[in-house]
Parts: sequence; structure tokens; C-alpha cells
Amino acid sequence: MQIVKRSLFTTKDGSHSIMVEELRESFHSQNGSLQESEHTFIKSGLSFLFDTFRPPKIELFEVGFGTGLNALLSYLWAVKDKVHVAYTGIEAFPLENELWQSLNYSKLIDANSYDAFSQMHRSDWNTPIALHEFFSFEKTHGDLVQHAYKKSYNLVYFDAFAPSVQPELWTDAIFKNLYDTMLNPAVLVTYSAAGQPRRAMTKAGFWLDEIRGAAGKREMTRALKM
Ligand SMILES: C[S@@+](CC[C@H](N)C(=O)[O-])C[C@H]1O[C@@H](n2cnc3c(N)ncnc32)[C@H](O)[C@@H]1O
Repeated sequence: MQIVKRSLFTTKDGSHSIMVEELRESFHSQNGSLQESEHTFIKSGLSFLFDTFRPPKIELFEVGFGTGLNALLSYLWAVKDKVHVAYTGIEAFPLENELWQSLNYSKLIDANSYDAFSQMHRSDWNTPIALHEFFSFEKTHGDLVQHAYKKSYNLVYFDAFAPSVQPELWTDAIFKNLYDTMLNPAVLVTYSAAGQPRRAMTKAGFWLDEIRGAAGKREMTRALKM
């Protein structure tokens, strides 16, 4: 995959997103980046995992750090709920400085969060930093297909481009690898409800929950290892 031209646009809830021109693919739902992230990743993933299994610490892995919106919302959740979260995000095509600096997430959510957001983007690759006593952050510059896991996770945000655009990231091998590396119990969430990824997840050993998707989407997928 090659990514050359990306531009910023505003989704229906007023929050920004990024359009990849050559793929005609956006980072988030046109119905609202913020509402999608909050529903799909925070409510259905992070809060669900904590409320259901009460793990002492949340080891979180995100496929596609991208704009950092999911990382920022997870940071705010950890600080507010006083739950330890260790975030690791993998990213193959980091955003240019001008793009992430123009994003309006901190302005919309909580202006005080800009410092943490900025530190996430400015931090060195493959170097964990403590952003708060309840939140550590690390980003890995690399391709998920070749990624060798060094840690085990009990929460995965699978936020790659759609299976139709990037089928090589939604394969049996990727989900088997993730399943094997995950702790037990553990939760994986993704906005996609497509058949192929669901079959791959089931084959890997996950139990699938069919749950309502974010605005404009009938369904999303939550996969459980337990
Ligand atoms: C749908 S966007 C979501 C990004 C991010 N979660 C957000 O909310 O902004 C998908 C992200 O996956 C990244 N990506 C694409 N292919 C990848 C790969 N092979 N390995 C790691 N990241 C990849 C893209 O650059 C992009 O940032």
C-alpha cells in the first residue's frame, strides 16, 4: 500500500478526520469521528473490558495509531476512572506534523488534553513514556503484517482501513497471531462487521458478540478470548 495525499475534513459531529485521496478512504465514519471512537473503542472495548473482567491493568494494543483520537480518549478515560492503561499503537504511515497539529479533538473534548495529545505525536518511536500515573504510551513505527509482538494484551482496537481496501490486514494469520499473543480474558473491538474478518476471528478461537455499531452502522464486532 502507498499513501501519498491525505487531507483533513470535518465529519458530521464537528470532529475532524483524514481522507486518503488515492484510496478514497477516510480514517473515520463520515457520521462523526468522535462519536464513532467513543462508541466502538471506548464504550464497547475499554469500558466493557473493565466492567466485565476488572483486570488490574489494561494492556492495550491499537492497529493504526493514526490521528491519535483513540489513544487520547483512552488516556482521558484512564485518568478519569483511575485505571492503569498501558497503550501501544502501531502505525505504518505516520501523519505529517501539519495534519495532526490541525486536528480539533482536544478543542472539542477538553482543551487541557492538548499537551498529552501533542506528546503522543511528538514522542520517539519504540520508546514508552509515562503521560500520567495511570497512562503509559508507546508507538511502534511498522507494518502489522511483519510485527513481532513483544508483549501480551488484554485489549485490542483493530482500526485498520476497511477489509475491502486493505484485505492483507484482516486475514486468518493476523487474527491467529493476535489471539495467540493476547492475555485471557481479553477483548478485541473493530468497527467492521464484514464476513471475512469475522470468520477469521472465529477460526482463531475468538467468541464473537454482535453489537450495535456507531451512528450510521447497524453492527460492529467485539471478539472475546476467554
Ligand atoms: C482507519 S485509520 C485509523 C487510524 C486511527 N485509529 C485513528 O483513529 O485516527 C487506519 C490506520 O492504520 C494505518 N495503517 C495502514 N496500514 C497499516 C499497516 N500495515 N500496519 C500498521 N498501520 C497501518 C494507517 O496509516 C491509518 O493510520
